Amino acid sequence: MLFTRLSTFLLLAVFATAATVDRRAAPIDQLVGFATQNGGTTGGAGGATTTVTTLAALRAAVTGATAKIVEINGIITGDGETIDVGNHTTVVGIGSNSGVTGGGFRVKKGTNVIFRNLQLSKSPAPTDLIELQTSTNIWVDHNTFTSDLTHDKDFYDGQLDMNHGTDFVTVSWNVFQQHFKCSLVGGSDNTGDEDSGHLRVTYHHNHFLEINSRTPSLRFGTAHIYSNHFDNVLESGVDSRDGAQTLIESNQFTNTVDPIETTLNGGLCVATGTLTTVPYAYTTDAASSVASIVAASAGVGKVTGL
Ligand SMILES: *[C@@H]1O[C@H](CO)[C@@H](O)[C@H](O)[C@H]1NC(C)=O
Repeated sequence: MLFTRLSTFLLLAVFATAATVDRRAAPIDQLVGFATQNGGTTGGAGGATTTVTTLAALRAAVTGATAKIVEINGIITGDGETIDVGNHTTVVGIGSNSGVTGGGFRVKKGTNVIFRNLQLSKSPAPTDLIELQTSTNIWVDHNTFTSDLTHDKDFYDGQLDMNHGTDFVTVSWNVFQQHFKCSLVGGSDNTGDEDSGHLRVTYHHNHFLEINSRTPSLRFGTAHIYSNHFDNVLESGVDSRDGAQTLIESNQFTNTVDPIETTLNGGLCVATGTLTTVPYAYTTDAASSVASIVAASAGVGKVTGL
């Protein structure tokens, strides 16, 4: 018996060692991308920390414009309405199973907000899991967004949507999974006046897993999309339209239908567009290593602290 257990253990140990992660060049604990611009994004750094476990306490804690860190302990069940987050706020989950289900966050006419290490799931439409409206300097990092593909495609809205002139956003090291319409940047074909020259967003080292479309869909804006893993994307991946400029590099596409589209109202990506440089330093990982790197380091439970 002991020998059997020991040999089973050794066998497992051998397998565990064999599944090595490719060497990573990019740091996992550092803000990179468009949210570093326009003065940078620090969230609630320097402010007081409040720990919350109820919806009412969460709602109260994230309002107001003074710097603050709001830690969520456990999964809070939402009421389907948005939770409005004030300026200079960090919302962070404790451990690997803290966040919100059945509701979502919104930053409206705000600035300097960080969402990190949160489990966010199943917010019924029209509430997105995170919506950024007319807001600047937002960092969405190391969260896990989960819905399901069993409901109708409009049952949930977006996992992470940005609109009405939002600007300077970084979306890094998240897992977006089991969802129809993942991330819409630019809410309508008619908002060019407020969106053109804005909607500058970086997506890097995210794992898009079993998503139907919009990883992301981009209208009018400027997106830099590098070292993401597109993994079983069912209908379309990056959708650059309405004159959006998209620089797409070092991504891995696995079993992804229509990985890059530019056919709707004349979108542009690097093959056809003019966006070839971005105003910040960054480190890509090789496309062939991205799946392994992102599997090891994206989503909740990978970074601690703020
Ligand atoms: C939050 O920041 C925005 C953008 O700077 C500003 O317009 C707004 O007045 C701020 N809100 C508060 C309550 O200070």
